[in-house]
Amino acid sequence: MEILKRVFQNAQKYQKRIVLPEGTEPRTLRATEIILNQKLARLILLGNPEEINQVANEIGVNIEGATIVDPKTDSRRGQYADLMVEIRKSKGLTKESALDLLNDPLYFAPLMIKSGDADGELAGAINATGDVLRPALQYVKTMPGVSVVSGAFLMFVNDPHFGHEGILVFADCAVMPDPNEQQLAEIAVTTAKTAKAIVGMDPRVAMLSFSTMGSAQHPLVDKMRNATRIAREMDPELKIDGEMQLDAALIAEVGRLKAPNSEVAGRANILVFPGLEAANIGYKLVQRLGKAEAVGPVLQGMAAPINDLSRGCSVSDIVNMVAITANQAAALFE
Ligand code: ACO
Repeated sequence: MEILKRVFQNAQKYQKRIVLPEGTEPRTLRATEIILNQKLARLILLGNPEEINQVANEIGVNIEGATIVDPKTDSRRGQYADLMVEIRKSKGLTKESALDLLNDPLYFAPLMIKSGDADGELAGAINATGDVLRPALQYVKTMPGVSVVSGAFLMFVNDPHFGHEGILVFADCAVMPDPNEQQLAEIAVTTAKTAKAIVGMDPRVAMLSFSTMGSAQHPLVDKMRNATRIAREMDPELKIDGEMQLDAALIAEVGRLKAPNSEVAGRANILVFPGLEAANIGYKLVQRLGKAEAVGPVLQGMAAPINDLSRGCSVSDIVNMVAITANQAAALFE
């Protein structure tokens, strides 16, 4: 896949520091060996050094070159705890509680990023999405001008006629259970930026619904139509249209029939779903029944790149996502 090749080349060029909180997890360690061999990033593994080395020996991988940091004994704990108290003072966080939280690598990693000791994070091979995201949302927060963190999937489908040479970007498949119209608009605008940055596509965003251009009347239809209007106000240059049904978004004849004046209908490459249920089920349907490769979720809108894995992830998913995280870090910090 040409795009992943470019993502890997960028990662090799920028040598970002990516922290992996699940340092004793075997797939993570297998990926570590590959990432170090291919020089895709500098890696920081969190956990007890003896345990990490023991697992690496047991599964026969060489992780020499990775930096191992133990969140329970690291000398920066006091400094990180002070920063946590500062950030969460309105929530009444005490230094004692902060030090306690720092024992958890999922808290230690965002604090490394916040303190400038790492450039990005990838976790989720053994932790639920919410547990990976919550510390990141609390301490790294959103980038300026953005209020919503969301998750996009790059879907590599087996037909180059769809999307951008067979690549579509779906959102939000990972974070916001029930976004309102303002949040949906932000998701659309941010996903277009992600798609441009990572895939290099000219974004054409379809705001999906069970109705096309007013064919059905329902508050849920209004929500997608209003979100489209708000997104246009946020980014007047953006090619975006909706509400529209999936077939109107993707199939030229249906698009011509149902939305004849649309520059998006029939050739959308970004699909914004009305909520997390539809989006999460939708991407998994395309992945499992349509045999598409799903890369992500690429989290967007966070002040630094922090990405989440599915617990069913493979070693190559971890390698790909480290490379994508490194690309996001390069785009943010160069
Ligand atoms: N963008 C920006 N900030 C957010 C967002 C968001 N999308 N969601 C929550 N926050 C902020 C809150 O404002 C809050 O800030 P504060 O503590 O400074 O006031 C902080 O993050 C924590 O939010 P809470 O609402 O207290 O935490 P919650 O327990 O609701 O966690 C979470 C938020 C983790 C994102 C939750 O909405 C969630 O679990 N979402 C679903 C994740 C999921 O299960 N996805 C499907 C699986 S992923 C896959 O299949 C690939």
